[in-house]
Amino acid sequence: MKKILFTLSIVFAAQLLNAQKFEDLAKTPPMGWNSWNNFGCDVSEKLIKEIADAIVSSGMKKAGYEYVIIDDCWQSSRDKDGNIIPDPKRFPSGMKNLVDYVHSLGLKFGIYSDAGTLTCGGRPGSRGYEFQDARTYASWGVDYLKYDWCSTGIQNAESSYQIMRDALFAAGRPVVFSICEWGNNQPWLWAGKIGHLWRTSMDVQPCFDCSVNWGGLGVLQIIDKSRELRKYSGPGHWNDPDMMEVGNKGLTESENRAHFTMWAMLSAPLIAGNDLRKMPEKIRTILTNREVIAIDQDSMGIQALRWKALGTLEIWFKPLQNGDMAICFLNRDSEPKEIDFDLKDRIMDSDFGWKNYVIDKSFQIKDVWQNKILGTTVDNLKTKIAAHDVLLLRLSR
Ligand code: GLA
Repeated sequence: MKKILFTLSIVFAAQLLNAQKFEDLAKTPPMGWNSWNNFGCDVSEKLIKEIADAIVSSGMKKAGYEYVIIDDCWQSSRDKDGNIIPDPKRFPSGMKNLVDYVHSLGLKFGIYSDAGTLTCGGRPGSRGYEFQDARTYASWGVDYLKYDWCSTGIQNAESSYQIMRDALFAAGRPVVFSICEWGNNQPWLWAGKIGHLWRTSMDVQPCFDCSVNWGGLGVLQIIDKSRELRKYSGPGHWNDPDMMEVGNKGLTESENRAHFTMWAMLSAPLIAGNDLRKMPEKIRTILTNREVIAIDQDSMGIQALRWKALGTLEIWFKPLQNGDMAICFLNRDSEPKEIDFDLKDRIMDSDFGWKNYVIDKSFQIKDVWQNKILGTTVDNLKTKIAAHDVLLLRLSR
């Protein structure tokens, strides 16, 4: 009996220690790149190595992007002992080798699996193999797991994700755990204890204002879905409005800028999804803007609230550390908008304990994208915002 109790307390203590290791991950929204949005199932070690190189050479790494994540279709089958086998044609050197390469560049490595029997791309899922897969990932040196929700039948979402969380704890390597069940089971109510981020919607599409019949959503549609969920997001546990489409075919330059800016306002994980090997300079400039990234990565981790909706012009507000504030005018319209706006106001935040923010006349206003001081809050803000674009301001004293 004593022996059993002793063993149990050791197991319990080990779990606690491991849980602690996971606690400290993702204090700010994770940043990185994922293969799905641009490459779908066309993944290989060659691609991942080239992308990892590009993250470094493009300045993305310096700007804070760190996770290189292979999405679906890297798996081919399981061996006779149930071990998951990477596609040998696409990953001839094996996964450990590839992970080592990514690590050698000072980056981290992410992988994808699914809580059901098959992934969404029809590859083997982790159902029934959770502990074995988690040990395999740990032996390869995986730092991030995106865990999908296809072929899950009548599985309970919370307990399915909990099993994989426990498996990752047991394997002992700290892993950012990304829950991807598309918001179907209100993950914002339970996923904070299990993972570091959870998807709030079906898959993002490379379009600004659209939805497709199977559930895919454009940038504006995802922003609308995120609005009510802000109180669930915060350091270590983030709403995930999906990976970015910035730089992918289907979005104009202003739409790319608006998409990136709003993801930053929403404290969203910034996971790029474009081909970084041939990224135009304009896209690189968007994805690496330090001051926009700083708004996303602000240590308070408060997701923006929609302060005002003036028809198709919305004003979003995000409190920042040191009393600074980010204010984003989002023009949803396909026509430009003139504004003449007095920023002075009192903003009530009922989602976080009825906090009050006062914008008085003591703030300096900076246009973040133009990198230009516009004046102070004494005077009205007068400017024009292009169609499907944003005006992003940082207010400071
Ligand atoms: C689902 C996810 C996507 C992607 C694909 C892969 O649709 O939501 O992000 O991972 O599966 O098959």
